[in-house]
Amino acid sequence: MAAVGVAGAGYVGLTTAACLAGLGHDVTCAEVDQSKVDQLSRGEVALGEPDLAPLVRDGLAAGRLRFTPDPGALDGREFVFACVPTPAGPDGAADLGAVEAVLAALHPGPHTVLVVKSTVPVGTCARIAETAGIPVVSNPEFLREGHAVHDFRHPDRILLGGEEPAVARVAALYADLGAPVVRTDHASAELGKYASNAFLALKLSYVNLLARLCERTGADIDAVTRTMSLDERIGPHFLHPGPGWGGSCLPKDTSALVATGAAAGVDLTILRSAIEANDRQHDHVVARIRQAAGGRLDGVRIGLFGLTFKAGTHDLRDSPALAVAARLAAAGAVLTGYDPGVTGGDQAGPVQRVDDPVLAAKGARVLVVLTEWPEFGGLDWSQLAAVAEGDVVVDTRGVLDPAALRGSGLRCLRLGHPAGE
Ligand code: UGA
Repeated sequence: MAAVGVAGAGYVGLTTAACLAGLGHDVTCAEVDQSKVDQLSRGEVALGEPDLAPLVRDGLAAGRLRFTPDPGALDGREFVFACVPTPAGPDGAADLGAVEAVLAALHPGPHTVLVVKSTVPVGTCARIAETAGIPVVSNPEFLREGHAVHDFRHPDRILLGGEEPAVARVAALYADLGAPVVRTDHASAELGKYASNAFLALKLSYVNLLARLCERTGADIDAVTRTMSLDERIGPHFLHPGPGWGGSCLPKDTSALVATGAAAGVDLTILRSAIEANDRQHDHVVARIRQAAGGRLDGVRIGLFGLTFKAGTHDLRDSPALAVAARLAAAGAVLTGYDPGVTGGDQAGPVQRVDDPVLAAKGARVLVVLTEWPEFGGLDWSQLAAVAEGDVVVDTRGVLDPAALRGSGLRCLRLGHPAGE
């Protein structure tokens, strides 16, 4: 059992803290937000991560997990995990302010290893190791929001960059997971994380462009992506077209990698193009909605289904749904939105938020599915059709069954399918 400190109780920090406690380690988690500390100390978990709340409560009950606002509580721990945000700064490069703050507050003991889980640009860990004078291991996380506990327990790989024996000591913390471990240097680990997220973004921009090509050529995106996915070299994941990729990671990490490339004299044109295609994807979805609304949006009521950046989260950060909503609002549309993951608050950006799908559909000329919540397929679309003003649903996520919708008197427009179906 190791004495572990975790700085930050966001979804990465909290998942790391609770899962390491679950593996038998003794974990102190420091979080600057006192109200969060109070909630977590009572075993209340505001994040909607499956399995996280019981894990936190088990850790508290076993005395293996505690929360504190005092960064000094991490002093001298054998391992201190930095799990703080690195948002994109104005130039797209990662803002390392929160990581610097963790470092400034750190009073290492003789055996302390600093483990950097935050996504930081290439060169950061080597620099930190030099200034902090302690071993630093780069250990980027690959947790998906909404699947964080599962992904911690069943990782595709554990990525560790740094020098021995620190790397071996960190690897031992995860030994019970039995996952493949990539042991490498700082720079390769840092780049490996960005490279993975940016590749997912590339894949999605490509598939979204293919969907547009399908609409123009009469091809069917489902057949095209199925063909691709059966090739083992391509694989079946991240091939679903949508209103664009978003969330708190893919956009910032892709921009940060472009900035790293520029600073290193490598123009990552392919990534710049993927980012640009993503912006255009929002415009494309708006164009399809305008077309469905009969050519104009000014004063037109639109019902939005899904506001979060993906299904299974409450998270609205960098949500493609809200990017589309902002464009619709700028064109004068009147927006009402329903999302099963979002409660509380009357507004989400320009969208009047409602808790009932019927209210979202009421009086709407066009209904638009923007997040891939599976439950949308099970809504009573006949009832929604009865209260809507129009008869078109634009399904940007491909979660609805067009034949079933036809039975409810609705026409379904999907991305990547010729107009009309
Ligand atoms: C992403 C990565 O998937 C994780 O491996 C990584 O650890 C995490 O970032 C991070 O760096 O912290 P996440 O931000 O939770 O995870 O979101 P994803 O599941 O990757 O989805 C990103 C976006 O792509 C969402 O807007 C989603 O709706 C969209 N998407 C995904 C599609 O449009 N189509 C797909 O087929 C898959």
